[in-house]
Amino acid sequence: MTKKNTYPSEMKILMVCLGNICRSPLAEGLLRDKIKRLNLSWEVDSAGTSGWHEGERPDARIAEVSKKNKVSLYGIYSRKLTKEDLKKFDLILTMDSSNYKNTLAAAKGDPEAIKKIHRITEFSTNYKDMDIPDPYFEGRFETVFEMLDDATDGIISAFAPEFIAQ
Ligand code: 4NP
Repeated sequence: MTKKNTYPSEMKILMVCLGNICRSPLAEGLLRDKIKRLNLSWEVDSAGTSGWHEGERPDARIAEVSKKNKVSLYGIYSRKLTKEDLKKFDLILTMDSSNYKNTLAAAKGDPEAIKKIHRITEFSTNYKDMDIPDPYFEGRFETVFEMLDDATDGIISAFAPEFIAQ
């Protein structure tokens, strides 16, 4: 995708996974911390394609890996992806092929929304176009952290390249 100068300076980015308790909250926390450090006025949020964990705080194992790496998950509660999200956000980033398909299905008939939906690893350097593994049953939380740290660095360098040279 074309990355530079495509989006407004106040970008709105939504991270999407299945439960919104593991991968997308961590992606939200990582990117939110990075843009805060860079003083960028972007909005970052997350949601799940399912509503299975609606209202819950991130999974304890994600909270642990976040704490260890000093990433804040403050104020994040699971919620389900809505039709309004598909209109509001400029960029909707899914964690794996299944989330990608389900999010596209939610945007069916809305070509503007469909254009915004991508896999987060399109922005990766070391894990390009791979699925972020679902850690809920399989674990691998450190791998998930490393992959999302890499992908969120890629998002910054794609949309705010002037900050990377610092
Ligand atoms: P997430 O992980 O999509 O990264 O939040 C999952 C959370 C819950 C379930 C599956 C994946 N679940 O089956 O409840």
